[in-house]
Amino acid sequence: MATQQRTQVGIIGAGPAGLLLARLLKVHGIESVILEARSRAYVEARIRAGVLEQGTVSLMEEAGVAGRLHRDGLVHDGVEITVAGRRFRVDFCELVGKTVTVYGQTEMTKDLIAARLAGDGPIVWEAADVALHDIDSGRPGLSYRLAGVEHTLACDFIAGCDGFHGASRPSLPAAKSRSFERTYPFGWIGILADVPPCSDELIYASHARGFSLASMRSPTRSRYYIQCALDERIEDWPDARIWDELELRLASNPPPRITRGPSIEKSVAPLRSFVSTPMQHGRLFLAGDAAHIVPPTGAKGLNLAASDVHYLCRALIAHYRTGNDDLLGAYSDTALARVWKAERFSWWMTMLLHKLYDETSFEAQMQRAELDYLAGSRAAQTALAENYVGLPF
Ligand code: FAD
Ligand code: DHB
Repeated sequence: MATQQRTQVGIIGAGPAGLLLARLLKVHGIESVILEARSRAYVEARIRAGVLEQGTVSLMEEAGVAGRLHRDGLVHDGVEITVAGRRFRVDFCELVGKTVTVYGQTEMTKDLIAARLAGDGPIVWEAADVALHDIDSGRPGLSYRLAGVEHTLACDFIAGCDGFHGASRPSLPAAKSRSFERTYPFGWIGILADVPPCSDELIYASHARGFSLASMRSPTRSRYYIQCALDERIEDWPDARIWDELELRLASNPPPRITRGPSIEKSVAPLRSFVSTPMQHGRLFLAGDAAHIVPPTGAKGLNLAASDVHYLCRALIAHYRTGNDDLLGAYSDTALARVWKAERFSWWMTMLLHKLYDETSFEAQMQRAELDYLAGSRAAQTALAENYVGLPF
């Protein structure tokens, strides 16, 4: 039987953006309903990002869900960068007095789902054909199908937190939207394995064979990435081939101690920069990947979703507490100012570290010179550190 429900904020998507928004709103006494296209098991198994900025950790604290993060998260004071076998360290703590925390997006998602389901409000899993209605009016709504039955949800506001392929962004009027996009001529192969990490800190490596990254999830779980061709098929990359390639690309003096083991997840992903403006129309507000994508090189995607949520939550609190809508009106401009800086940093890290050019070209010499400058300049390292730990909200 069709049902009609009502809530204050209708949230589309139970990724980090939707879940964090719902939790923060609840802490501040605002009700919401989350509509999620996938099952709980699917959402909790999705392997994605791994590095949290201090601002993101603070939001998890404000949301009252940082217990496990503080217990199991690994606080990193810096990163290592290897350029053609020569390794140097960028010390965040010394240069900008901040750190990052290595804690999987998967774990953050599980913590937020557990808090939500402990009494915060509903998550409608496997909601099909989610559609947005009347976003220009003061009474917007959502409709969806669950097990073949039609449902509607009336709300004051809609938060589009449904990622790059969701239903929210296409609901913005095309005549008023503008998007900016850059694709890259390569992808990343990622591998997750229950083996100890090869180094205490992350290693970003630029190499003639292509970029690679050594990351981790815990002292016993490693995450590695290698630059690959766009049309690469994961079937052509048995684990041994990935480990061989990592050995070559991460080689340095002293050498990282790579422990091999069977993959527990393996995938190929394209890289993309994308921004859709504005991030708001009428009563619809976009947050996270629904509005923008960064290439993963700077570890910014998840953290940008969190800063959008911070701005949106603050604006909704002002609306419900004081009736003042200035922050809601400024949301798109406020969020985009930070988004563009993270886009710039992610694009810069990507262009700096990947194999992009013929070795004999002028561009390859510029890339080499920039890496050399970074290796030797405190000023250049400070700029990297300031962006990597996250610009202030
Ligand atoms: P999402 O996490 O995409 O969540 C959106 C949610 O909406 C999903 O649960 C989806 O199922 C749901 N949804 C979609 N459409 C609908 C619909 N029509 N109706 C209802 N629900 C819907 N970032 C990094 O920094 N490092 C990484 O290594 C990294 N790896 C990544 C790998 C992949 C394959 C992808 C896609 C992203 C990766 N990212 C990475 C980026 C980072 O994970 C994202 O920026 C982050 O997940 C953004 O969170 P979000 O909540 O905005 O979107
Ligand atoms: C991870 C992913 C990244 O893109 C990055 O820059 C750092 C770490 C990770 O998945 O651990």
